[in-house]
Amino acid sequence: MNDPSLDKTKPLAAGATLAVLTSGGDAPGMNAALRTVTKIGLARGLRIWGVRHGYRGLLDGDGVELHHRDVDQIIRYGGTLLGSARELRFRTEEGRALAQRRIVEQGIDGVVVVGGDGSLTGARVLAGLQASDGARLRVVGVPASIDNDVGCSSLSIGVDTAMNTIVEAIDKIADTARAHERVFIVEVMGRDCGYLAMVSGIASSADVVLYRERGLSHDELLAQVESAARRAYADGSGKRMVLIVKAEGVSLPAEAIKRHLDARLRPDVPNVETRVTVLGHLVRGGAPTAMDRLVASRLANAAVLAAAEGYTDVMAAWRPPTGERSPWDPDVALFGLEEVLAETAAIRDGTSAVSRKRVALLQGVEAVLSL
Ligand code: F6P
Repeated sequence: MNDPSLDKTKPLAAGATLAVLTSGGDAPGMNAALRTVTKIGLARGLRIWGVRHGYRGLLDGDGVELHHRDVDQIIRYGGTLLGSARELRFRTEEGRALAQRRIVEQGIDGVVVVGGDGSLTGARVLAGLQASDGARLRVVGVPASIDNDVGCSSLSIGVDTAMNTIVEAIDKIADTARAHERVFIVEVMGRDCGYLAMVSGIASSADVVLYRERGLSHDELLAQVESAARRAYADGSGKRMVLIVKAEGVSLPAEAIKRHLDARLRPDVPNVETRVTVLGHLVRGGAPTAMDRLVASRLANAAVLAAAEGYTDVMAAWRPPTGERSPWDPDVALFGLEEVLAETAAIRDGTSAVSRKRVALLQGVEAVLSL
């Protein structure tokens, strides 16, 4: 790799310790990443230290040495072998000083951080610390979040499984919606990012997808759902059911949409009923899809090799729109964490070109959605 903007320090020596942690909201496929970090790391002659419960475990010195047998079968399972947590202590000066002490105490020379926005923010802090061998700590991030809001990576670990889980759930909801000729509002996770709602809305043939990035007011959102419902229940439409997928980030509560539809539709469409299903944490669990296993394994492979070569303050990204591809995998590129976090913030507030493309894609298919 010739990118001079990427940070590099001394390569890891044989026998050096590479720590790995999963942090923030768990995502299906994290275990595949842990498996690869362990197996590739061991094959490179490194010692692999699994930190329990993310940054909390790093600060508490809670971890376990990982061997081949520990990770043999875990690719099949959701969640994370190491556990996860959202740890705020790490953001303080005392937290950073404690982390530095633990790193030296435990002989850690590099860390692979598997997680989303908060975890990668923590990874930046780690990259400012010193490794036990006196060089800078090698810190490489691997994007994992069902929200698909991590900048510079077209996909994060967990997104594909979450999308499939949502589509499976909506297919089931569609059966009962059809039977009762009802309107269903299905709310899906994603924090501020509408990606999961958008893609699962298309894949499940929803009538309306509500997401934050388009910047519609509550009144405009209500008008959108009301008009789709009126079309569905109009004489001769032959449809008489409506599926609305709502992103968690839309601040208009699903129950308020239901109340609006009940009040506005009932006088014209007697007996029509609206139900709300919030899928919540269901979307985060389950066995990872083959795609998530593959993306996680390949990102983690590149992350270990990057750490071994001495890269730090970077993240391995999956099929980014720009950036020089890594020598280890033609679909993976390294990006500096500063750039990743700036782009993540832009995706979350909807100003990124990526968000605009996603909105354009949805608007392009909207006419088809609600026919
Ligand atoms: O970031 C992943 C995510 O599942 C979001 O979609 C959701 O808003 C949040 O985490 C829920 O967090 P918690 O599990 O802490 O309630």
